[in-house]
Order: sequence, then C-alpha cells, then structure tokens
Amino acid sequence: MSEIQSIQWFPGHMTKTKRKIQESLKLVEAVAEIIDARVPVSSRNPDLDQLIRDKPRIVLLNKSDMADPAQTAQWIDYFKKQGAYALAIDCKSGKGLNGFIPLVRSVLANQIKAWEAKGMVGRTIRVMIVGIPNVGKSSFINKMSKTSKVKVEDRPGVTRGNQWVTIGKGFDLLDTPGVLWPKFDDPAVGEKLAFTGAVKDQIMDTEQLAGRLLELLSRQYPISLQRYKLQEADLSEKPGYELLSLVGRKRGMLISGGEIDTERAAIMVLDEFRGGKLGRITLEPVK
Ligand code: G4P
Repeated sequence: MSEIQSIQWFPGHMTKTKRKIQESLKLVEAVAEIIDARVPVSSRNPDLDQLIRDKPRIVLLNKSDMADPAQTAQWIDYFKKQGAYALAIDCKSGKGLNGFIPLVRSVLANQIKAWEAKGMVGRTIRVMIVGIPNVGKSSFINKMSKTSKVKVEDRPGVTRGNQWVTIGKGFDLLDTPGVLWPKFDDPAVGEKLAFTGAVKDQIMDTEQLAGRLLELLSRQYPISLQRYKLQEADLSEKPGYELLSLVGRKRGMLISGGEIDTERAAIMVLDEFRGGKLGRITLEPVK
C-alpha cells in the first residue's frame, strides 16, 4: 500500500515528522537513507540534509535488482566523489546487504576509536533508517534482522523493548524507520515516482502516465520495448499516445469496432515495468 495515499503531507504533519526524526537522531550514531536505484534523484527527500546535518549518513541504493547495473555503479561513484558513502542493495534477494555493517563501521571508524580510548570497547552502534514511502525501508529492516545471527541473550544487562532490532554483534537498527516526503511539488518527480508505483496511479491518468513512460524508454532504453515488438523505426520521436497504441495493437488489445484498448495496454506497460519485466532500467542517469 502506498503511504503517500494514506499519509497526508500537510505542513503540520511534516513538522511533527521532522520533530520525531530529530528526537530519534539523538539516539543513533548514523543514518541510512534508502533510495530507489531506478530513480536516485526523485526518491530522495529534499529536506534530509538540513534535518540530519552532520550526522554520518550512508545512502542505500535499494531495488538494484531492477536498476541498470552500469548506472548503479556510476551512481555509487557519484556519491563517493561527493564524499558520501553509498551501497547498492537488493532487499528481495538480500544481495549487497552483508556490506552494510562493515560500511557503517568504516564510516564511524573515528567515533569507534574515540569510544575505545575511553574504555568503551564494543559499544553498540545504532542506526536509523529513513526514506520516502515504498523505497523498501521495512524490507531492509526485516531482511537485516532475519539474517542476523545475534541472539538477544547475547546482550546481558540491556533492557529490550521493541524499539531496537539487533542485526549484528553490537549493532542495532531503530525498528521504526523515518518516513519522509518526496519532492512532491515537482511534477517531474511525481511522474517518476508514479512510474515506479511509489505514488498511486490515481494521481495521474493511467494512459498518459504509460505514454510518458514509453516516451522515456524509447529514448533511454529502446531495447526494453522489443518485448512489445517495437523496432527502432516504430519509436522515432513518437508521442507517448502513439507508442501506447502501437503496444496495444501488437498485443492484440482491441475493443469492439477494432479500436485499440489503450487503457488495458497502459495498465500492462506500467505493471510490467514495475515488475522488472522490461529489463533492468534506471530512469535517472548520472548527469
Ligand atoms: P517502505 O517500508 O519503504 O514503505 O517499503 P517496503 O519495504 O514496504 O517495500 C515496498 C515494496 O518494494 C514491497 O513490494 C517490497 O517487496 C518491494 N521491495 C523492497 N525492496 C526491494 C528490492 O530490493 N527489490 C525489489 N524488486 N523489490 C523490493 P510490494 O509489492 O508492496 O509488496 P510485496 O510484493 O513484497 O508483497
């Protein structure tokens, strides 16, 4: 279910969310920001920098199983050049997740040394997960806690509520992630998030949305449209609606009178894109 639908991002709610996240920040040593590797720009929260300030941050490019691997590698490089720490992960299969704890430990190396100098050897590191709805925050927390071999009994003297999830020896995640809003005032962002399904279709006309997606794919990933038997010549600068009609025709989606059922074609294109059936695609390349 899309939380964008259920949560109203009105100013009062945003202020409350910000305050809650700021309170939780006091409890953790680092923040892991989960983004969608297919749309690494649009799936970021615009106010996160200001919110977490100088708290160490790790960017997790999730759903990398559906993103273009070459582009994901370029994004990781991009973040590194910015002095940020990034890791590609896939919470479906678990790929990349074993790099998380070592990365956080390396990011916090100085902090850990300072603790050790004060005699706090093996002090528990605590991390908070944040991200916009549907990027995979709960999947990450679940997957990490399931793969953890650490038992709760290994931590004598610690009162355990359900606030923390242990994911490694001396390593906890805050069990409720910070749910942040996207840059919803930017229509281009809304469109990208609607393609991935992070924002519900009702926000936009389905045929228009699928048409826009086909336009983008015809320019950025023409090969992905071979699934619909669309060749290079079919694609040349055609507007989305024409591309959608072509897809419907190739798939034999007709309604009475021989007209093409573009509504059905639109639902299919969006479903197949979201299900990764069009291949591994990154809609926002590194500029
Ligand atoms: P959230 O807490 O940030 O809101 O996201 P959540 O974990 O609920 O994940 C949203 C959807 O994305 C879920 O699919 C989840 O399975 C899927 N997902 C999360 N991580 C990955 C990933 O790395 N790769 C792929 N391919 N999918 C991922 P859903 O359709 O809402 O539910 P379901 O199919 O799991 O039942």
